[in-house]
Formats: sequence, C-alpha cells, structure tokens
Amino acid sequence: MGFDEIFQELYEYVRREMEAGGAHAFDHVERVLKLAVRLALEEGADLEVVRFAALLHDIERAREDKGEVDCHAVASAERARQLLLERGLSEEFARRVAECIRSHRFRKNEEPKSLEAKVLSDADKLDATGAVGIARAYLFGGRYGQRLWEEEPKKERFYPGMNAEEYSPRTEYELKLSKLKDRMFTASGRRIAERRSRFMKLFFEELEREVKGED
Ligand SMILES: [Fe+2]
Repeated sequence: MGFDEIFQELYEYVRREMEAGGAHAFDHVERVLKLAVRLALEEGADLEVVRFAALLHDIERAREDKGEVDCHAVASAERARQLLLERGLSEEFARRVAECIRSHRFRKNEEPKSLEAKVLSDADKLDATGAVGIARAYLFGGRYGQRLWEEEPKKERFYPGMNAEEYSPRTEYELKLSKLKDRMFTASGRRIAERRSRFMKLFFEELEREVKGED
C-alpha cells in the first residue's frame, strides 16, 4: 500500500474512534489537517510526515480527559508509531511522525524541533484563534454553564470543577487565546495568527460595547 491508501484507511479509523469518544474532537482534527497541509506547502515541510502527524495528533485525547493517561501528546505519539508500523511504514517515518506529535503540546522541555513539528504545533494553536477560537471557547464555556460576559477577566483560567458562573470566555481570551500568536514557530503560522488575532480583538471589543448597550 502507498501513502495515500494508508492515509485514507487511517482517516476512517481515526474518525470512527474519535466520534465514538464524542465532543466533536474529529472536527478539530479535520481543521488542523487542512491548516497543517497548507503550512507544510508554504514552509516546504515534508507533507507526508505532517499530514499523518496532524491526523493522529489527538488520538489519545479522550483517554487523557478520562484520566487514563497523563499526557495525550506522549500517549498519542506512541499510539501513532504503532499504527504506522503495523501498516508497513518505516521505523524512520514512524519516528518522525511521533516526534511531531510528542512536541505539539507546548512544554518548555519539549519544544518542537523539526520543521514538521513546528508546522503541527502552529496548526494546532491556530485552531484556537480567530472565529473558530471564539466559537470553541463559547462551546466549552456553554457546556459548563459559563456566562456570556464578565466585567473583569479572572487571574486564573477556568477548569472543570471551578465555579463556572463566575467565568465567561473573556478570561480564556485574555489569558490564553490572545497570546497564541506569540507562540508560533513558522512565518506562515505567524501571519495567519496575526490576522485571526485582530479579529478576536475586534470581536471582544464589539461584544463589550453591545453588552454595555453602548452601540
Ligand atoms: Fe489538537
């Protein structure tokens, strides 16, 4: 089997598995895949490594949410390596894909090193910016019963178990989403992040005016 057939088969496999896990996780994977392919072409990264890494990057996410694994990036990298080896792809290819996945969750001690890892990291962060970033923050906030607006953003990000009624996605924007543009590794990623960030800023400024009945 060539790369395309293996990719198609794995695409269906990942979709079935992630949809069973719920929470629209596969929608995120599809968006990241499109962005990652675009960035790979613009940056001259290895397209095969990037698209397999994007497809498999969150495959163990649901297990982290259930508390079955500590870090979904580490668990997804290992699972991806196995899935690729089982399908006859080389050790070297599987290792390169796994390395991208391991470092896609930004940690100080595990910064993306290869161009392909930088592309995946940027694509994943871009999916938390712009209109999509806002929409995702409101979907998440709504699930936990957050409000639409808060006068003063909090000093700490919301996580399940906190009092959701004291929060709105504005805190998530101030503390996290507005800063993602400074965590891009590629020039193409930075350009898209800057455009998307301007839109988020405008959105929250407009929201504030409307909430206050000023406009
Ligand atoms: Fe992701």
